[in-house]
Amino acid sequence: GDVGAGEQVFSANCAACHAGGMNVIMPEKTLQKDALDQYLAGGRKEASVVMQVTNGKNAMPAFGGRLSDEDIANVASYVIDQADGDKW
Ligand code: HEM
Repeated sequence: GDVGAGEQVFSANCAACHAGGMNVIMPEKTLQKDALDQYLAGGRKEASVVMQVTNGKNAMPAFGGRLSDEDIANVASYVIDQADGDKW
């Protein structure tokens, strides 16, 4: 996916709960490398983020049908790029 396009998707759809890679609802479940390794179903990879964004989990809403597959792929690339590079 396109990391730059994903950053725009993130700002518009995710930052309300995940500004700066944090998590305002479940503080331990951040978008940082160690948290994704520990908590993200399927492990720290783009396909796992695509799954969670598409389907939602607990208090996180599902974005399937609200965002295009392309937008979801791009935001997943952005989240993994940020985490892998310790950019947040
Ligand atoms: C968890 C991404 C939107 C609330 C997560 C995780 C990812 C993620 C990758 C796993 C983090 C971890 O387990 O450490 C995104 C993306 C979003 C988005 C890319 C936008 C497309 C939101 C919004 C909310 C939210 C808008 C709040 C209304 C949560 C919560 C969890 C979570 C509560 C923890 C779920 C659980 O394991 O029980 N998010 N998120 N997310 N997100 Fe989001």
